[in-house]
Amino acid sequence: MAILALKIMKKLILIILSLIIVLLVIVFLLNPKGIYQLSDNTAKFIPQQAIPKELVSLKAEDCGVCHSEIYQEWQTSLHSKAFIDPFFTAYLKKDKGDPTYLVCHTPLLNQSPVILSSESVDYPDTWGALKSIANPDFDPELQKEGVTCAACHLKDGIIYGPYKKGSLDAPHPVAYDEKFLKKSLCQQCHEVPSKDFSLMNEGVCSTGMESNSGLWSAKGFVCQDCHMSPVTRPLMAGYPAREGRKHLWPGGYSNHQLQKVFSRP
Ligand code: HEC
Ligand code: HEC
Ligand code: HEC
Ligand code: HEC
Repeated sequence: MAILALKIMKKLILIILSLIIVLLVIVFLLNPKGIYQLSDNTAKFIPQQAIPKELVSLKAEDCGVCHSEIYQEWQTSLHSKAFIDPFFTAYLKKDKGDPTYLVCHTPLLNQSPVILSSESVDYPDTWGALKSIANPDFDPELQKEGVTCAACHLKDGIIYGPYKKGSLDAPHPVAYDEKFLKKSLCQQCHEVPSKDFSLMNEGVCSTGMESNSGLWSAKGFVCQDCHMSPVTRPLMAGYPAREGRKHLWPGGYSNHQLQKVFSRP
């Protein structure tokens, strides 16, 4: 009797093991391309940007000569640490320098040591076979700045911002871009698409999706409302005060931000 029970047990264990193996194979077949796949909406490297002739460099420090308060705020934010943050560097090492990470952590092509062959074509599904050539205009200093001022504000020699045309008196070309008032600016990076069974559905990379499905988004809140608090001050010493926003981007590491979760406006 005991021997019969043992035999049945053995069979059962075998059946369960085979079922698990079949399930794993199915999961693998459904998701053969790694943890996530890039969609067309995902950010790509911003093409190489020349230094506008009115400025001395693209470095945040040099913007900070005039925009000193914003520069000091940015310096304390994770955006300025996006390339040197140890959590990120550990991940980058683990995933063998996956260039998809760099598209958001060092978004300007000026910040990339290599130009990927995919810059001219579309992103392929796998990165292993990618060819790359050395980037002759690579700026290692700018690379360390991660999500730097120019990544959000500069395009083809013009500094874009939230103010309507004609209202400013700036030493560099300026233009209004409505994306500064919308969440689309943030979503190009904070909305890394993921596949089923992905580990990337939560956290810094995909907060966009999380936020979009929430109550606050339905009420019309954009990312800036909660992550860039409003402030009225001059953009540069000696200029008139204007309505703008702080460049601190508090997140999951900020006590104050976490406390806000429990207090309704
Ligand atoms: C020599 C000083 C100086 C430097 C350097 C400088 N700016 Fe400015 N910037 C100004 C002034 C002055 C204004 C307009 C202030 C006003 O009229 O209230 C301005 C306006 C702006 C605006 C508002 C644009 C708009 O239309 O909404 C942005 C954004 C901006 N600067 C970003 C930058 C960035 C990024 C850099 C570095 C790449 C930079 N600035 C470098 C002085 C400077
Ligand atoms: C070019 C890509 C890019 C853009 C655009 C961007 N971010 Fe980020 N952001 C990042 C990266 C990369 C990090 C994470 C840095 C790290 O952890 O290494 C980050 C970090 C953050 C954090 C900090 C999270 C924490 O836990 O402290 C907040 C908050 C944030 N971003 C909000 C925003 C908002 C709001 C916008 C739009 C105004 C925005 N981001 C636009 C790439 C971007
Ligand atoms: C109604 C306010 C609100 C809105 C709108 C909002 N957030 Fe947040 N966000 C928070 C709070 C509060 C936290 C801190 C609690 C947490 O980490 O979950 C946070 C956390 C984050 C983090 C850090 C996550 C982590 O794991 O450390 C990032 C990145 C972020 N938000 C980006 C965004 C982006 C991008 C948008 C727009 C698509 C957005 N948020 C919209 C309130 C908001
Ligand atoms: C992640 C994107 C991002 C980065 C990085 C960034 N900014 Fe901004 N910046 C914004 C947004 C969004 C606004 C619009 C805020 C508003 O509605 O007034 C803005 C507004 C401004 C303005 C207009 C004044 C104001 O407060 O609105 C200036 C000047 C400016 N930024 C300078 C800088 C400088 C200098 C740096 C780097 C030290 C920098 N920004 C980095 C997103 C960014």
